[in-house]
Amino acid sequence: MQETNEKKLIFSGIQPTGTFTLGNYIGAIRNWGPLQDEYNCIYSIVDMHAITVRQDPAKLRQNTLQAYALILACGIDPKKSTAFIQSHNPNHAELSWILSCSTQFGELSRMTQFKDKSAKHADDINAGLFTYPVLMAADILAYNADLVPIGADQKQHLELARNIAGRFNQKYGEFFTLPEPFIPETGARVMSLQDPAKKMSKSDENPNACVLILDDKDTIIRKFRRAVTDSEAEVCYREGKAGINNLMTIYSAVTGKTLDAITAEFAGKGYGDFKTAVGEAVADHLEPVRTEYEKLIADKAYLKECYTAGAETAFRITRKTLSKVYRKIGFVDAR
Ligand code: TRP
Repeated sequence: MQETNEKKLIFSGIQPTGTFTLGNYIGAIRNWGPLQDEYNCIYSIVDMHAITVRQDPAKLRQNTLQAYALILACGIDPKKSTAFIQSHNPNHAELSWILSCSTQFGELSRMTQFKDKSAKHADDINAGLFTYPVLMAADILAYNADLVPIGADQKQHLELARNIAGRFNQKYGEFFTLPEPFIPETGARVMSLQDPAKKMSKSDENPNACVLILDDKDTIIRKFRRAVTDSEAEVCYREGKAGINNLMTIYSAVTGKTLDAITAEFAGKGYGDFKTAVGEAVADHLEPVRTEYEKLIADKAYLKECYTAGAETAFRITRKTLSKVYRKIGFVDAR
């Protein structure tokens, strides 16, 4: 067992978008709990990133609290990890300004997410949307994080964070840790229930395509019963059976059964039985998360206690980084 201070540090930022999909859960979130013993983990609900696109203030506040409650419900233990709301730690914004002066206009212009979001929100191409990756770099570098769990869409931003860190180190002497992407061995990739060629996504127009981890039991079973399959009647994992393969993958992920065992279990049974069984298994598997979430979201005082303590820890760690940075770049000591 390693000593606490030898553990690698993981930083992860989570957008306050309300809820997670079954795909997020199986692919990533359910690993969070076990990771806390092996690593020092810092989780932040990134409300400051969220406002780079228009937000309804009441909704943002609600989504931020919900996201916070949800990560706890999914296994983040605020005693083991640091879990806080990004805007509660002003050091992120301060460091972001400093780092923006080591970031080039050209490199930010090349960010594909900026290009995509500008196209999507053509009437609001604000400076925050443009400098979004610098704030993300500040999130990570402020803690000197070793590892950052990210999906493919955030790879370019992490690469930029490494470049910014490297450039700063070159100008002012070795200081920042160059963060690496952390891709835990996951579970499987979960596909849309309506079009198994596509990834399961919250933004799918068809609500039956995507199971949300806070969906109630009936809703989950209904969505699985409507899942697209094929015209055979054989529960078996094989090329050309993308719908069934996806359902088998999900069933295997939540029950721990092997694909062969699943085939044996449903031999001679119809797809209807299989789909209902998958729906029930998923609903049962998510039940404790939903119960815990409901308990937490009803206890605003407890949540506040947790996120206030998280922000204090986060502030303390990052203030040290910032003081050193200020000294390095030639700012006069404030005290
Ligand atoms: N940009 C990330 C996303 O959209 C969220 C994020 C913000 C983040 N800051 C971060 C992720 C720092 C990892 C580390 O998913």
